[in-house]
Amino acid sequence: YQNIKSLLFISLIMKATATTNANIALIKYWGRRNDELVLPTNNSISFTMDDQLKTITTVEFSDKLQHDQLYIDETHAKPHEVERASAFLDVVRKMAGIKKKAVVHSQNSFPKSAGLASSASAFAALAAAASKAAGLNLSEKELSMLARRGSGSASRSIHGGAVEWVAGSSNDGSDCYAKQISPPEKWANLRNVIAITNSHEKKVGSASGMKQTIKSSSLYLARVKSVEGRLETVRNAILKGDFEAMSDAIMQESNNMHATMLDSWPPIVYLNSTSFEIIDKVLDFNLRYGKSVAAYTFDAGPNAHVYTTSKYEKEMFDILQGMSKVEKVMSCKVGNGVRILDKHLF
Ligand code: PMV
Repeated sequence: YQNIKSLLFISLIMKATATTNANIALIKYWGRRNDELVLPTNNSISFTMDDQLKTITTVEFSDKLQHDQLYIDETHAKPHEVERASAFLDVVRKMAGIKKKAVVHSQNSFPKSAGLASSASAFAALAAAASKAAGLNLSEKELSMLARRGSGSASRSIHGGAVEWVAGSSNDGSDCYAKQISPPEKWANLRNVIAITNSHEKKVGSASGMKQTIKSSSLYLARVKSVEGRLETVRNAILKGDFEAMSDAIMQESNNMHATMLDSWPPIVYLNSTSFEIIDKVLDFNLRYGKSVAAYTFDAGPNAHVYTTSKYEKEMFDILQGMSKVEKVMSCKVGNGVRILDKHLF
């Protein structure tokens, strides 16, 4: 019986494919209380975006491999990218009790490392595909905790709709996970009009940037205190399905994070002059309507995510499209979380 069991195990194909979408934070994660376990200092809230911003990843574990191999968009990944994926796969191997190395193919529908949160969809898809290929059958909560180890924001990309990543307080990370707080169907009228102002890779990675901020910015502690109020405002507005009730808090939150970044030493500057022009345009737009019908937010990059409702979508799209330095504008809906696919990339 033992022999049959091991024969079956040997012939078992350890391969799986998953897809998921990038997310954009309305309340930001910028700072950790534990680096190795990726435990944040504060809760964060995001919307998962639609399939225009997705990653598909296939993982196969095999006895034949000496090293992990990673291909991103059909080309060999850079050594530091392979190292990061390998460290993440070590976490999965440890959970599954296996030693096999893996081949990973990952495909993005958008430029990676352009501040469009490719690490979020990348590690969420990798977590789902690798854990499934390794024979683990994780719940969405467990998947979000696993994805967190690759990239904090990836914990949120496991779910669709509006998602809150709970910081928790335990030292082992057992109460630190992401959960859906509102399903995508509830946000059918919400639009994220994205303006790409620079599609090149970002200069400062988020992990080292956060450390730099905590170490050197005198504004950081004030940020941690003030984020609580904005978190509550945004969460309550989301639960009510009321976009206007959260738009000012979204913009203040983005400004607050980028202010602490600028206050860091050496300063961390993700926004460019076009980002600031967009901030002006959105504020003017709201002034013209006499209410906050649009809200901008920026992650660790200069590209603007302007949230608004379908009623104002075209007007906002045309404003951003009309700016000479904007490379591309796309309009995105609220989308789904992780899905397992039958069709593999290789
Ligand atoms: O998940 P990371 O390590 O790429 O960090 C993400 C940090 C921000 O995008 C700036 C904010 C966030 O909450 O997504």
